[in-house]
Amino acid sequence: HKKYVAFKPVGKTNRRWPDQVIEQAPRWCAVDLRDGNQALIKPMNVAQKQRLFDLLVKLGFKEIEIGFPAASQPDFDFCRKLIEENRIPKDVRIQVLTQARPELIARTYEALKGADRAIVHVYNSTSTVQREQVFGLDRAGIREIAVNGARWVKEHADLAPETEWTFQYSPESFTGTELDFAVEVIDSVNAVWRPDLGQGVVINLPATVEMSTPNVFADQIEWVCDHVAHREHFSISVHTHNDRGCGVAAAELAMLAGADRVEGTLMGNGERTGNMDLVTMAMNLYSQGIDPHLDLSGMAEIVETVEACTDISTHPRHPYAGDLVFTAFSGSHQDAIRKCLALRKPDDVWNVAYLPIDPADLGRHYDEVVRINSQSGKGGVAYVLERDYDITLPRWLQIEFSKVVQAEAETNGGEIDSLTIHRLFEEKYLKV
Ligand code: KIV
Ligand code: ZN
Repeated sequence: HKKYVAFKPVGKTNRRWPDQVIEQAPRWCAVDLRDGNQALIKPMNVAQKQRLFDLLVKLGFKEIEIGFPAASQPDFDFCRKLIEENRIPKDVRIQVLTQARPELIARTYEALKGADRAIVHVYNSTSTVQREQVFGLDRAGIREIAVNGARWVKEHADLAPETEWTFQYSPESFTGTELDFAVEVIDSVNAVWRPDLGQGVVINLPATVEMSTPNVFADQIEWVCDHVAHREHFSISVHTHNDRGCGVAAAELAMLAGADRVEGTLMGNGERTGNMDLVTMAMNLYSQGIDPHLDLSGMAEIVETVEACTDISTHPRHPYAGDLVFTAFSGSHQDAIRKCLALRKPDDVWNVAYLPIDPADLGRHYDEVVRINSQSGKGGVAYVLERDYDITLPRWLQIEFSKVVQAEAETNGGEIDSLTIHRLFEEKYLKV
């Protein structure tokens, strides 16, 4: 992505890591088929799950959480289908979620029988509110649930050595958990799993509910990274939700604070206000010259597939993906964009006013950028005539004709399409 420049932020982004910048993409994990799915009014059927899975593979995701097979028959069936029909590429790991309960863990391993490789993701809730009000347990009781879960996960894996297992643990509701307790639980789980002896382990720290500003979340991540045992032997993952609208920002700052893996969903589908949006975060990296190792160049197909599988439409102003995000109606914006594009040479670094990235990188075209309504000026109208009809207007005529178009837009109250602009031009200047 030589066309974009990686920039160093000016000033302090956080008092503890002021000079850090993200230098490479995280290890991604897409949880659309589990967290995204569990939040849908109508959960996906097996065919929809397959379609979304295939898209995630095509985009380049190497870790994909496919469901909670012990809790849902369609998730179990989907997991079996992927394995039995050999639909998991060799470089992709499926991940499945389970609670730390023996019968659920046993069923999870039934679902995964015969997989070449898989991530078993076990969780239990650790926050004060969950401990005291939901489970009625003290710290020791909660830690015991986690340690037992880790033990059962390991015991089942030991019985199926033909599969390459990665273990993942989430202290669910981490953002409401005392940090010293979170570290105590993580160390206890790792004492069972032994990442220091080579077992692949991910410790996933969720903002199950986004409770604070992103810098506070990042401080929590940093504290854990600084205090856990054997940090160098396992991955720290973050799994942010978007309750305060900052899921992406929290994940980005968490990377600066030491996380190396990020979980999220396409377009941010997920519980309540959703999960961290993978599209936005990946494209944020891309726009700073960092290869996200995901191919988002076919944005129309991504939007269409996600909409078909989730039955949730994409907001027209959704970062990078919405219909209107590379559109300029305002005359001064159109003018500036036109001037920058006219000066631009093919190998120049992208530096176009009002367009943070080149829409072509997402499979979109500059044609969609200039659209005309009553806010548009002479530049936009002239551009449409030139682009669609090869008609070049002198400056005086641009000024005069844009008033005609503006009057029509004010009467009709909305957008004026290219055909109407041409008809107005014909009526005024070409018809005798
Ligand atoms: O948000 C959350 O805490 C989760 C966990 C199960 C990781 O989805
Ligand atoms: Zn979640």
